[in-house]
Amino acid sequence: MSFARICRKERFGERFVCFELEERNIASQARPGQFVMVRPGFGVFDPLLPRPFAVLSANADRFSLLFEIVGKGTELLSHLEVGDVVEVLGPLGRGFSLDAHSGILLAGGRGLVPLVFLAREFKKRSISFSFFLGVRERKDLALLRLLEDLPRVLWSCEEAVSGGFCGTVLDLVGKCLERALWQEARIYACGPEGMLRELATVFPGKEEDIEVALEARMGCGFGVCLGCAIPRRGGGYWHVCSDGPVFRLSEVVL
Ligand SMILES: Cc1cc2nc3c(=O)[nH]c(=O)nc-3n(C[C@H](O)[C@H](O)[C@H](O)COP(=O)(O)OP(=O)(O)OC[C@H]3O[C@@H](n4cnc5c(N)ncnc54)[C@H](O)[C@@H]3O)c2cc1C
Ligand code: FES
Repeated sequence: MSFARICRKERFGERFVCFELEERNIASQARPGQFVMVRPGFGVFDPLLPRPFAVLSANADRFSLLFEIVGKGTELLSHLEVGDVVEVLGPLGRGFSLDAHSGILLAGGRGLVPLVFLAREFKKRSISFSFFLGVRERKDLALLRLLEDLPRVLWSCEEAVSGGFCGTVLDLVGKCLERALWQEARIYACGPEGMLRELATVFPGKEEDIEVALEARMGCGFGVCLGCAIPRRGGGYWHVCSDGPVFRLSEVVL
């Protein structure tokens, strides 16, 4: 693991924190969909295991992460301030494919993190895309600030918000994307497992051309502890850390 200094910290609503971190290797090598393992401080072993987070952006000598505070590790991270140091390992795993003709990006909550990185890469490469974000609560709409520089962003919220679509991100897609529009595009998704499972129903016959970024409990992050195994379509197992975290929907059993 190496050390990274926090050079910027920003809150997005009550539950999300974004860090910009100084670490040249990760910043220069990270690709959309890859992740890093993070310890909340230098030589901190409680919690024992580092936590995995997708890379939000990377350039020159800095990269950024955005995390939701859900438990002990993320709570500890959220108390760190600019100038503090964290231990990091990465970039790890297999990222998204970047050779699509056009893309439909579907994010549920914090699942937007790897997709924002992908969207910015598509923008640089002039690959056309639409970005759909769904959040559960009104206060999570603070995440929309991350999407301000992107074209064609649509959002939904499961709580009623004036002027907004009420429902899940897949309800929104069902309302405004006709088959002809999604048939030609590659679909990229990240979000809660239930949402990813539903993709096969919303986009029938498309599983080969849907890429999903998965989350799993992780120990090492690089294929040694076997803690992140998930069932493989057709038998056997994948390791989310080293075979993924991005898979074609047709490769996994969710
Ligand atoms: C490849 C990858 C990329 C990720 N990227 C991000 C990201 O960009 N932003 C972000 O906020 N989170 C991301 N996560 C999830 C993040 O790693 C967990 O939320 C974090 O490890 C929780 O640590 P904790 O100590 O705060 O919570 P814990 O105390 O460990 O757990 C708190 C609660 O969250 C649940 N939980 C913890 N980890 C997971 C998991 N992997 N999958 C499902 N439920 C879990 C637990 O069951 C428990 O209910 C990613 C996970 C993976 C595997
Ligand atoms: S996290 Fe250790 S093998 Fe995947």
